[in-house]
Formats: sequence, structure tokens, C-alpha cells
Amino acid sequence: MAAAPFHLAWFLQGSSIQAWGAPWTGNISEEWMRPDLFLDLARQMERAGFDYILIEDSIYVGQNWKNSRDIFLKNGMSIPRQEPSIVAAMMAAATTRLGIVPTLSTFAYHPYLTARIVGTLDQVSLGRGGWNMVTGSSDLSAQNFGMDKLPDHDERYLMAEEYVQICKRLWGSWEPGAIVADRKSGVLIDPEKVHTIDYVGKYYSSRGPLNSGPLPQGQPVIAQAGGSVSGKKFAAKYADTVVAAPRGVEAMKKYREDVRAERAAIGLDPDGCKILFLLQPIVTQSKAEAAERVADRKASAEADIDKRLARMGWSTNIDFSGCDLDAPVGEFTTNGHQSSLQQFLKNSEGKTLREAIVAYSTGGICVDVVGTPDSCASQMAEIMEEVGGDGFLIEQPDVSRRTIASITDGLVPELQQRGLTRKAYAHTQLRDNLLEF
Ligand SMILES: Cc1cc2nc3c(=O)[nH]c(=O)nc-3n(C[C@H](O)[C@H](O)[C@H](O)COP(=O)(O)O)c2cc1C
Repeated sequence: MAAAPFHLAWFLQGSSIQAWGAPWTGNISEEWMRPDLFLDLARQMERAGFDYILIEDSIYVGQNWKNSRDIFLKNGMSIPRQEPSIVAAMMAAATTRLGIVPTLSTFAYHPYLTARIVGTLDQVSLGRGGWNMVTGSSDLSAQNFGMDKLPDHDERYLMAEEYVQICKRLWGSWEPGAIVADRKSGVLIDPEKVHTIDYVGKYYSSRGPLNSGPLPQGQPVIAQAGGSVSGKKFAAKYADTVVAAPRGVEAMKKYREDVRAERAAIGLDPDGCKILFLLQPIVTQSKAEAAERVADRKASAEADIDKRLARMGWSTNIDFSGCDLDAPVGEFTTNGHQSSLQQFLKNSEGKTLREAIVAYSTGGICVDVVGTPDSCASQMAEIMEEVGGDGFLIEQPDVSRRTIASITDGLVPELQQRGLTRKAYAHTQLRDNLLEF
């Protein structure tokens, strides 16, 4: 029996100078203000039949290493980075089938504004708009918006419930057929078909209707990445696609089963939500080159322990700079990305902090896929068969036209020839493509 096809999406770590100092990045440090590299990337993704590109975001400059911004600024770590909805609109204009999914953090945009931005993206892309719903993780970002700190982790998800309810209702505030555009009577919009939502919540309220009009998809696609218990519950209820980073095939399988079981428990079709697993494949021309790249990856992690720990601190709100690198990893808690910290700690048992961060940054994220296109395609097929679906969220830590081509022109044709990923889009809208298989 032929293996079931799976989905591919791309994880773009913000619109920024992604790979400062990495080879084959051209003149990115001079040209970064115009997102040409990312527009090329979007076109490449579309050529390779990807479902969507997710533009990750955070809204602060890191200061989680020696309580200083230096390491982040000197090394261009997640800085500079631009407003994702603007880059998303440019990507929409550069493509015709690819889904475009910018991240908008709930603490930073009022739900009316998010509904309007994502709604407009859905309109200008003719039904390819999505929203990566994140609740934020850093008090530094909260301080950019006049707050001392972010609300507690679980409260953020309670707030997000109200937030998403408002967005969904605003998107639904235009009934189908509301735009009549009757030239004879001179009526553009039927007032009977446009409604206020009059939502009054504990955290957010909104009157409506959405003033930007009806959307091609009705409801744009929601992506979500919460890995904690409350995160998964939230995703099961609201997400059309979950992007996840559990480590190892067993954890991936369990993650997917948890979300699917949760959906079934609340009366939703488990197949209505596609769970994509983060992967950083190393695709090379030969086995020897693969071995060399793996050795380089380890050497670079060992040489860059500070940067790696600063990056970990950036998403978990922890400053690891005072810790002994050669002692076992201690106990930590966070109000930031809980599941990221837990995964790190779980995989750190029996390791020093130095060993743990090297292992964490060299594991290919969910699983390590390394080799020639043929070999990588086989590894991915096996993983998907064990996990049960639904696909991969591909990332390259050193984004360049060359690394992108290793995926779109090396790996993907191998997957396509095995019938594992699509060769052509069956639909024009993002949700339809997600639900195709
Ligand atoms: C693939 C992936 C993409 C993510 N993208 C973002 C992002 O763009 N911005 C952000 O603030 N958090 C992002 N996160 C973090 C999640 O929103 C969430 O905070 C994290 O997975 C921890 O989940 P938890 O809070 O339920 O433990 C991402 C996580 C994953 C796994």
C-alpha cells in the first residue's frame, strides 16, 4: 500500500538577518530592509507545493544574557526584525497559492486589530491568510507595551480564549452575500447582513462589526504552538494547524494523539487540525558531505555555548549566564515557553549544562534527518508512518538561497516522486489545501 501523503510548511524565524555570518547569505546585511530573500523563499515554497509559510515573531530585543543586550545585538540574534504583517502582505503579492501565516501576539495587538489585519491578509491573498496565535513569552516584550510583565502562563491562555472568540465573531460579522453591489438600486452592502458582536469579556471587549468586510475563507486559518497542557487544549479547540517541537518520534506521536483526542472529546473532527513537526533537515549531495555538516554543526555549537544559552534564555526568560557550564543542569521554572524549557530539562538528565545545550542545539529539533535527498526522504517517510501524520514544518537555521534550494530542489522532488507530498495545489485557498489529505 502506498504511504499516505503529508503536508509541508516553512518556519521562517522572523523577517530579519537570519544567518549573520553564515556562508552563502549574499549581501543580506546590506539588503535586509527589503525582504527580497524572503519573497524568493515564498516563491520557492510555492513551487515546491508547501501549504504555508509561518513568519515567527517576537517584539523585543533580548537581554537574557548577563542582563545585557550585547550578545543579541552583536550577533544579530532575532534582531533586527520587522513587523510580520507587512512582510506577509508582500509575500501574498509574490505568490498565488501559498498560505501566508504571520505571528501576532495577543498581548500586543487588540483582538479587533488582529481580526482586521488577518482579515485583510485573507482578502488581499484571495483566501490564503492565516494567523499564528501566540500569547508571548517575555516580560521584556510586555515592557514595550507599558506592562511590567506578562500575565501568568495559564491566565494568558484564558485571555486568549476571549481573544479568539472576538476574532472569530468579527470575521463572522458579515453574512455570506452581504455585498450585493446592486448598481440599479445603488446598494453596495445589505445592512441586514452585517452585525455587531457586542462581546463583553473579563479581559477584552469589542462591539463590531469588522469594518474591513467579508473574507474569502470566512474564517482565516489559525495556527498555534502551545505545548503545555493548556496550550494543547487551546490548540485542539481553535487551531486549523498546530506547529510543534516535541523531541523524538514517541513524543511526536503522543503530542499528535493528545491533540486529536482532545478534539474528539469536544466533538471536533480530529482530521480538521493538521499537526506539523519542526524539522531542520541537513540535505547534502553525498554521505561524506552529510558527515562533515554534522561535525560542523556540533563544532559550531561547542564554540558558541554562550549564544546557544542566550537563545534558550530568550524564549524561556531565564538568564543562564551565571550557571556553571560543567555542572549538571539545575532546576528552573519559567513564565515563558514552558514546554520548551521542559523539553530542554528532560533531555538534560545526566548531562552538564554545556553538554545539554550542545545536544539540544544539534538534534535537528523533533528528529535529526540528515543525508542525501533520497535518504532524507526515506527517513521522513518512516517518521511520518510511525507518528501517523500530518507533516513537517521545515526550518533552516542558516537561511540562504542555497539552503532553501537544498530543500525545494533537492529534498522535495524526492518526496514528490514517492507520492509523499503534493506536486500541484488542488485548491486556491489555504484551508482547502490543508484539508486536501
Ligand atoms: C514551531 C513553533 C513556533 C513558535 N512560534 C512562536 C512565535 O512566533 N512567537 C512566540 O512568541 N512564540 C512562538 N512559539 C512559542 C509558542 O507560542 C508557545 O509559547 C510555546 O510553544 C510554549 O508553549 P506553552 O506556553 O503552551 O508551553 C512557537 C513554538 C513553536 C513550537
